[in-house]
Amino acid sequence: MRILHVASELTPYAKTGGLGDVLAGLVPALAARGHEVIVALPRYRDGRSVEGTLARRVRKFPVVLGGARLDVELLEGQFPGYPRARVWLIDHPASYDRDGIYGPPSGGDFPDNARRFALLGKAALAIADELDAWPDVVHGHDWQGGPAVLYAMSPPGDRLHPRRVMTIHNLAFQGLFPASIIDEVGFPRDRFTPHGYEFWSHVGFLKAGLTAAEHVTTVSPRYAREIQRSDAGMGLDGLLRSMSDRVVGIQNGIDDGAWSPAHDPHLAHPYTRDAMGGKRHCKAELQRELGLPMRADVPLIGSIARLTEQKGFDLIVRALPRLLRDGVQYVALGAGDPAIEHSLRLMANEHPDQVHLHVGFDEGLAHRIEAGCDLFLMPSRWEPCGLNQLYSQAYGTPPIVRAVGGLDDSVVDFDARSRSGTGFKFEAYTDVALESTLRRAMLAWSDTEAFRALQRRAMSQDFSWHGPARQYERVYRS
Ligand code: ADP
Ligand code: GLC
Repeated sequence: MRILHVASELTPYAKTGGLGDVLAGLVPALAARGHEVIVALPRYRDGRSVEGTLARRVRKFPVVLGGARLDVELLEGQFPGYPRARVWLIDHPASYDRDGIYGPPSGGDFPDNARRFALLGKAALAIADELDAWPDVVHGHDWQGGPAVLYAMSPPGDRLHPRRVMTIHNLAFQGLFPASIIDEVGFPRDRFTPHGYEFWSHVGFLKAGLTAAEHVTTVSPRYAREIQRSDAGMGLDGLLRSMSDRVVGIQNGIDDGAWSPAHDPHLAHPYTRDAMGGKRHCKAELQRELGLPMRADVPLIGSIARLTEQKGFDLIVRALPRLLRDGVQYVALGAGDPAIEHSLRLMANEHPDQVHLHVGFDEGLAHRIEAGCDLFLMPSRWEPCGLNQLYSQAYGTPPIVRAVGGLDDSVVDFDARSRSGTGFKFEAYTDVALESTLRRAMLAWSDTEAFRALQRRAMSQDFSWHGPARQYERVYRS
């Protein structure tokens, strides 16, 4: 099959969260199964430094969007080692050559985001047509990929209708715009109904994709069930329930080329499940890097996340100070909501010897935190899948998570008696529940032998993309 993915992120060209990593892992895994796979995304300013020799300019392509004709250019490249996996960077400087992917560094969204991501979908299909690379399957990701799936319902000329799949990575972002943009983005007027892309008199880009798709996937089985309930469906649960037999949860894998403690170029001391010595050194190095006392005898706990309501930092700032008396160290890496940054900053200022906050996006530090910490903390309010708890298990850093979405699917709670489990889970979204789980985790950490066995179990799991790629293939075939 020829599969065209349309998404707003692909690591290393563009990454603000897990989406970019997912495309970077899924695309080559599908190619390894014999498919021809293309991923189309905008050519942002941020990604230019990593283009290297991977991409080359082909030529200009005319794209009709609404009534307007725009010319885009294409930078095309291969995934290293996978000749059947290609990247299309869609170059339209007026739309994409700016500081920021979704909005300016000062915060908020770009005012022309509807047009920018409609253009992405339109251009991807126009290029596929021009290059005679017309897809069998169009697969859109999140609201930015929605228009492509809708446009794929009306192929140009005598092109066949591609099969259409949408993946929800996070229902909290739906791409809602005023109805006045309909003509500008060239959406069919007759689908501006509750059964089409209308969402309470707005235009919903995610909804446009969902209602045009034949199959909908999301990134973990539990999240697939949660979003069909009114308390987690964010207004789309009715639609998702109505297509329930075509909604499937496929848990994300991890790209073990990029995330393996044995071959991680960001680590000074690589290690494996059977030779864990390097992890101790990684901890000491990390403490040095962060300016924390280099102590092996206190647990070091880490978090890496977009600073948003989703990730549960309000629980952390309430529960953690009570544990600091027992000597734990904590590092948080993240960027986003200034209010969350402020409350973490207060905690760090109050406990400079124990708490370190690093604000910003730092890929290398993210790897060093996964490796150097003893425990990873991710008490999300909701979590479609989550990648960091997978990375942390692969790095022998048992995660402490709330039992929700993909966190619940991918972490098995530690049980001291039966010596089973791969991390620590709690149910209620309260600081009390988090605190007692943190205490349970610290107690487990202090039992060196049992903790070592826990690390081994976490590290022995197969989180590769092979299984998920097979499941996506099954969706395409159906
Ligand atoms: P989400 O997609 O909701 O942000 P995931 O856990 O699926 O959550 O993926 C987050 C990805 O983004 C991980 O690869 C994580 O390491 C990375 N990440 C998030 N914030 C930062 C940051 N400040 N610096 C470096 N990497 C980050
Ligand atoms: C979203 C979700 C996250 C998921 C990622 C990749 O950003 O918040 O849970 O892992 O997409 O699918």
